[in-house]
Amino acid sequence: MARLLARDGCNVLAIDGDSNPNLALTLGIAAERMSDMPVLPSNLLRRTEAGPMLTQSLEDIKASHSVTGPDGVELLVMAHPQHADTGCLCSMHATVRRIIEAASDEDRDVCILDTEASPEHLSRGTASYADVMLAVVEPYFKSLETGRRMAALANDLGLDRVALVANKVKDEREQEAVETFAANHDLEIAAIVPFDETFALAERAGVAPLDFNPDSPAIAPIHRLAMAWGANVHGRA
Ligand SMILES: Nc1ncnc2c1ncn2[C@@H]1O[C@H](COP(=O)(O)OP(=O)(O)OP(=O)(O)O)[C@@H](O)[C@H]1O
Ligand SMILES: [Mg+2]
Repeated sequence: MARLLARDGCNVLAIDGDSNPNLALTLGIAAERMSDMPVLPSNLLRRTEAGPMLTQSLEDIKASHSVTGPDGVELLVMAHPQHADTGCLCSMHATVRRIIEAASDEDRDVCILDTEASPEHLSRGTASYADVMLAVVEPYFKSLETGRRMAALANDLGLDRVALVANKVKDEREQEAVETFAANHDLEIAAIVPFDETFALAERAGVAPLDFNPDSPAIAPIHRLAMAWGANVHGRA
């Protein structure tokens, strides 16, 4: 979605909020660049009466800590997986929360936070300045149930729009199972993305699925989703 929005003319800031970050690879940044990938430092906040605030402008943070990937997507990475015993990520969650707030100035600015499959970003309020949450689920019960819980937390947080994206859907039976679950829990399905065998081939070849085969079956629904949910949310996603 990040790259397709960038191709559509948006300034896209992608934030890898997973404590085991892999978004760079998915975006198509070469694996060799992973080892010297900058990570957001833990000293970007100062205490104020209004709560923690960024000590630098977003432009400065991006200038010193982002990498620019294919299609011009700028990537900030929240955490580094390679250091043991470095403590909790509390301050990083607060930093990312303020970065998302700061990323909402211009109409064609889109900020996409990729989270891990845990409630951290919602329970800590990291995503509270987001407009939209898309919970990517797979067509089996535990995954759908996780999506339902995330959607409830996102609604609690006051996000404007919350929906499921059903991924890796293999057949009509699986699609129906997702649709029934969503209807039973009053959840919107923003897209149905089929299981796509070329994704594994892309990974083995070390390239992004979008570069490996832009016409592979999963790309079209992701493209529709990006156009429908990205550009029309007053600049933010
Ligand atoms: N529609 C799809 N069809 C086939 N394989 C897919 C599809 N979507 C993702 N994959 C594959 O599933 C694996 C996990 O994908 P990805 O890392 O994007 O998922 P994730 O849910 O973000 O995982 P994590 O929770 O670890 O962050 C990858 O190998 C990816 O290529
Ligand atoms: Mg992930």
